Amino acid sequence: MVTIVVGGHFGDEGKGKMVSYLAVKDDVDVVARAGVGPNAGHTVYHKGKEYGLRMIPCGFVNEKASLFIGAGVLVDTQRFLKEVALTGSGDRIRVDGRCAIIEEKHKREDSSDKYLKDKVGTTGSGCGPANAERAHRTIKLAREIPEMEPYLADVPLELNTALDDGKTVLLEASQGFGLSLFYGTYPFVTSKDTTSSMAAVDVGIGPTRVKEVIVIYKAYTTRVGEGPMSSLITEENIEDNPLWQEVLKDAEDEGIDGGDVNDILAKYFREWGTVTQRKRRVGAFDIELARYSSMVNGATGICITCLDKIFPECRSVTEYAGLSDRVKSYVREIEEGVGVNAVLLSTGPELEDVVDLRKD
Ligand code: GTP
Ligand code: IMP
Ligand code: MG
Repeated sequence: MVTIVVGGHFGDEGKGKMVSYLAVKDDVDVVARAGVGPNAGHTVYHKGKEYGLRMIPCGFVNEKASLFIGAGVLVDTQRFLKEVALTGSGDRIRVDGRCAIIEEKHKREDSSDKYLKDKVGTTGSGCGPANAERAHRTIKLAREIPEMEPYLADVPLELNTALDDGKTVLLEASQGFGLSLFYGTYPFVTSKDTTSSMAAVDVGIGPTRVKEVIVIYKAYTTRVGEGPMSSLITEENIEDNPLWQEVLKDAEDEGIDGGDVNDILAKYFREWGTVTQRKRRVGAFDIELARYSSMVNGATGICITCLDKIFPECRSVTEYAGLSDRVKSYVREIEEGVGVNAVLLSTGPELEDVVDLRKD
């Protein structure tokens, strides 16, 4: 059976943490990375160490799982080899020979082109220029790179055979719905669609084989880079919002100051980009975007992360009964607004900080 995990807002929803939780908890056989490429930064804590992964699937924390990178994903060879060494996953990660390769020229263009860098505010990882060259049909593929040779495989064949054998497959997407090239806030988007259907395409699995789509949201909305954000918290609108006034007060009580309200909230929540170290803008939970993205993604369940950042009393709680009434009603409101039940709630960055509401 196939489960897809996908971001429902603007990326950085905590997919890394939730994929590693599911990989271990459900003891999945296979974890495959979909999505754009190394523009994603997934944060995972494993055995007391923090990993900022951009290529290797976060499911590597399950040491028995086979790991794959699908043909749709752009590969940065040096970054890939570095993460293979960092995670010690060389004997169980395989990459499709048809993955397109990011070269230095793509990274140079991504960080020097004024439109990409300043207007779109890209990550500079070379993904946009590489996908443009891929569409131009002049890009190099992984099968042409000697250093990639030991890792190559036919990923669709591997995954579909695993499914035929009754194995479980977890698909890890990247970015978020609002950054989709097709459905996001164009032109402030990434260079590909970011929905669950695209994740299946990325790794070569047909839609009829997908059983579960879990759409992940943070308990609030963040956005790194340029582009509109309708739920942004500002000096003006915080006045009418008692919950956010309380969060701001908690931040100030911790001695956080400097900058405007949004800077204070970003500092309090430690919202800095994993890849670019840029400040992420902070907004209230964008319920309209969440509803729409769950619809397009075909969500079978939703996951809400970082609840502990707004409601510190729920930090590391793992049982629904242990959540405060205000957290329960916050979650209920999101479920009603989105129209999909919550299946997982995250109450801290550690793998085990999860309230799992799925039926056994
Ligand atoms: P992209 O693919 O870049 O969109 O990344 P991502 O969805 O994997 O998220 P990323 O790791 O960039 O950012 C999420 C941040 O929140 C990381 O620092 C996580 O460690 C942290 N995090 C995830 N879940 C929780 C949670 O429930 N509580 C707290 N306090 N932190 C969390
Ligand atoms: P690109 O994907 O590097 O071309 O960047 C395009 C837009 O998507 C920029 O606004 C980036 O900040 C944003 N973006 C790309 N990848 C991520 C991600 O993994 N998390 C959050 N934002 C991202
Ligand atoms: Mg990220």
